[in-house]
Amino acid sequence: MRPAPLEGLEPTLNQRTFSIIGPGRAGMAIAKALANNGWVISRVAGRSIEHAQPLAEKLGAVACIAADVGIGVGLIIIATPDSAISETALIVAAQASHGALLIHLAGATGIEALEGVRSTRPDLVLGSLHPLQTLSDDNAFEKLQGAFCAVEGPQEIEELAREIGLTPFSVLPANRSAYHAAAVVASNHVVALMGQVERMANNAGVPFEAFAPLARTAIEAALISGPASALTGPVSRGDAATIEAHLRAIDPSGVAVYKALALDALRLSGRDDPALEEMLS
Ligand SMILES: NC(=O)c1ccc[n+]([C@@H]2O[C@H](COP(=O)([O-])OP(=O)(O)OC[C@H]3O[C@@H](n4cnc5c(N)ncnc54)[C@H](OP(=O)(O)O)[C@@H]3O)[C@@H](O)[C@H]2O)c1
Repeated sequence: MRPAPLEGLEPTLNQRTFSIIGPGRAGMAIAKALANNGWVISRVAGRSIEHAQPLAEKLGAVACIAADVGIGVGLIIIATPDSAISETALIVAAQASHGALLIHLAGATGIEALEGVRSTRPDLVLGSLHPLQTLSDDNAFEKLQGAFCAVEGPQEIEELAREIGLTPFSVLPANRSAYHAAAVVASNHVVALMGQVERMANNAGVPFEAFAPLARTAIEAALISGPASALTGPVSRGDAATIEAHLRAIDPSGVAVYKALALDALRLSGRDDPALEEMLS
């Protein structure tokens, strides 16, 4: 819960106003989602006023220096790269409104990234909200609807998440890196794998887009029925000769990834096949 306002401190705090520091992709998506839900944006800060200006203009906010971004608002969102969160929090906290909510959006770290402000600003309410979604363009805010997010902090952060269409869950601090690693595999590694499919398709003289229905159906099936029952293909059938032919055919630079994932598929299939395991190891 927010502490009661202290007499003489920041009389203009408006709990439905917010500011953003870190005028990038995640900051823009969260800002637009909040604005769509009746929140009023006040300021945007970046590494400089010039860097903040484009997003401030898009959102109808004032571009300012980092130290001013928390003035007069109820919610301050740090959307900088993870490595800048702690330092940014200290700068922002100095002039933040009394009792304001200060959150960051990172997945790799939790509330501990903001701990530095506790000694000087114990009145601030600290938290983190990590949208489990890829936010990459101007319309990314729409993808927040129905997505999940990891939250840490008091109840009001969970409420904030629900308000913008996210389903919140919590992660034990000790599991934070494991959680974030899973998120990276689910998004970045899937994309990297599609990069490999594109190269292999080119080598085979087949259009990359021909693989789209196959990839979509496989991912959907894994998500709906579970990875083990969605698995098809030569590994699940124990078809060693086909896999041997693949290993001869594909570019040597792709062999290590192919083998590692085929070995993972073998584990997922539950087959006891020492010969295939040996071939893939
Ligand atoms: N994008 C996603 O899909 C996504 C999803 C969930 C969570 N997140 C989290 O959201 C946060 C931001 O990620 P992002 O993808 O939005 O990154 P981004 O697009 O690179 O945006 C980061 C922004 O922060 C600015 N910045 C860098 N250092 C700063 C500093 N010291 N003070 C003020 N601003 C600074 C950058 O400005 P310059 O361009 O001038 O460097 C840039 O505008 C990260 O914690 C990330 O983990 C991102």
